[in-house]
Amino acid sequence: MIVVTGATGRFGTVVVEDLIARVPAGEVAVVARDPEKARRFAERGVDVRRGDYDDRASLERAFAGADRLLFVSASDTTPGVRPRQHSAIVAAAAAAGVGHVVYTSAITAEDGASFLADHTTTERAIRDAGLTHTFLRNTFYTEELVPADLVAAAVKTGELAAPAIGQPLVTAPIADLALAASAVLTGAGHENAVYELRGPGWTYPELAAVLSEASGTPVSYRELADDDAGGMAFILPLLRLPQFGTPTPDLQRLLGRQVTPLEEFVRGLLPA
Ligand SMILES: NC(=O)c1ccc[n+]([C@@H]2O[C@H](COP(=O)([O-])OP(=O)(O)OC[C@H]3O[C@@H](n4cnc5c(N)ncnc54)[C@H](OP(=O)(O)O)[C@@H]3O)[C@@H](O)[C@H]2O)c1
Repeated sequence: MIVVTGATGRFGTVVVEDLIARVPAGEVAVVARDPEKARRFAERGVDVRRGDYDDRASLERAFAGADRLLFVSASDTTPGVRPRQHSAIVAAAAAAGVGHVVYTSAITAEDGASFLADHTTTERAIRDAGLTHTFLRNTFYTEELVPADLVAAAVKTGELAAPAIGQPLVTAPIADLALAASAVLTGAGHENAVYELRGPGWTYPELAAVLSEASGTPVSYRELADDDAGGMAFILPLLRLPQFGTPTPDLQRLLGRQVTPLEEFVRGLLPA
């Protein structure tokens, strides 16, 4: 039995859709704090189990019989919340006798206090619990750095305004990262592996060129001062760390194909 947490989120939804295309739905269970939100899976034969990261007993019940568990990191990054929730998940997985935990980690960034440190702590907790594991060190989602509203505004105004990063951005679309997780959950030989899942890298000036080509409207790049970067400002120091600019082959290997090119990603955001 493959048990998936976070199945109602952006990442988990793609994983479950792919899993039930690969294995019988009866071999898949999802954990949701609100089972009603997972109704689309229940209707197709997936076992929907109630489990809340804030309720360890519910998780232990929800993880029963899991040969493999996809542990999707929690979304509440308020300091202190995720470490508490994640330690409950690890304890529940150990108590339920989960065979193999596949954890959605992140590019490590111990060189600075950040929400990414939670992942380092969680990896350690999983190892210390003696659980067989695979760590999927996911890069930033392309969706976060190329949001639909940025693309729409750039095409409308003919200008893409974004800060200078000084190195490529090795993001990947959520769907690619989720399909890599599904490949691990259904594949063999991933015990205690750590995968650095990143894309090939792109820059905002390149994005402007891609937008020009894809939209048929010239789009030029304008460098924004960091102070004008708005909601993106807080991650700029991370995006400038060496590991956030260094591509790795693991995502392409797990997918068995190249990571979705930026052109294709952008075309999916433009009106047909
Ligand atoms: N790599 C990146 O750029 C990036 C960006 C954003 C987030 N992340 C991380 O990756 C994770 C998955 O991404 P995503 O885009 O799928 O996030 P998302 O759409 O926000 O989904 C988060 C999932 O976690 C579930 N969840 C949150 N708190 C829970 C709790 N207390 N008990 C049970 N389930 C809970 C949510 O359930 P509900 O549907 O009930 O809310 C949802 O299914 C995020 O949670 C976050 O840790 C990574």
